[in-house]
Amino acid sequence: MRHLLSTKDLSYDAALTVLDTADQMAAVGQRAVKKLPALRGRTVVNLFLEDSTRTRISFETAAKRLSADVLNFSAKGSSVSKGESLKDTAQTLAAMSADAVVIRHSASGSPQQLAESGWIDAAVVNAGDGTHEHPTQALLDAMTLRQHRARTEGRESTRGLDLEGLHVAVVGDVLHSRVARSNLWLLTTLGARVTFVAPPTLLPVGVGQWPCEVVYSLDQALDPAPDAVMMLRVQRERMHAAFFPTPQEYAREWGLTPERLAALDAAGAPTAIMHPGPMNRGLEISSAAADSPRSTVLDQVRNGVSVRMSVLYLLLSGDDLDTPTDPVHAQ
Ligand code: CP
Repeated sequence: MRHLLSTKDLSYDAALTVLDTADQMAAVGQRAVKKLPALRGRTVVNLFLEDSTRTRISFETAAKRLSADVLNFSAKGSSVSKGESLKDTAQTLAAMSADAVVIRHSASGSPQQLAESGWIDAAVVNAGDGTHEHPTQALLDAMTLRQHRARTEGRESTRGLDLEGLHVAVVGDVLHSRVARSNLWLLTTLGARVTFVAPPTLLPVGVGQWPCEVVYSLDQALDPAPDAVMMLRVQRERMHAAFFPTPQEYAREWGLTPERLAALDAAGAPTAIMHPGPMNRGLEISSAAADSPRSTVLDQVRNGVSVRMSVLYLLLSGDDLDTPTDPVHAQ
């Protein structure tokens, strides 16, 4: 595979290769192995034309831990703010010999346009495009779910482990969420069952044709407790009409409140609480839930570096995504 644009493009074997390689990458950056020389002499451009904290910083960290040269490029402070087109920006990056372009853009489909345009001969990694996809977020979520599964089942290793039989409830603003879409395709490829939980006004048209169950009540979705609840950020910046339901109604009906957390605790289920960040505390998730021992929010951030190292390594080293690899010990 030359680019990573969508989790729909990942086969079962390719997804496990990315996750197994990410597990190995987790050892890099610790005291014993600070960096790998794998991408020495290669240039990774972070082209972030929409705001980001976690994704931008973790791609930069990932590329540096693989010894790549990194160019960070954002709309603010570049000629994009003067109206320069994606084509002219891409051709400028091509002239600087970029080997990979990690792109975040508010327009759905822009990474695919960049990959297929011929404007630049580089691997393209989608770091979030509009409401379409965020494939590395789904991969880091799958890595976190594998770790949760291994802990719950008393396994020593996650190598080769899929998500067969797990039930994941994805809760909230599905309408605007690229995270929900990328997770749906990847989780189902890896064998998990997905339930979308949302008010009818925050579900996309056509969701009935997607490979998931849809329910409107969070209390219904939590009984029996799923293996994980993935709380989605309410994306008020993408809402052009008034937010309906109101924030108060939303927090009460679809928020992971202290009362719902207490019900999970009383049930004794090992349900993981996930959130891609940034969180609206007090809206989709209470601080009690976000900071509880069930929360995997910071594990997700940590796993983001390993997954992005894996993706950059596999795309730029020329390894076949369907073939297991051992980058740490190969160096
Ligand atoms: N989860 C996520 O994409 O966060 P950022 O917008 O901070 O990158």
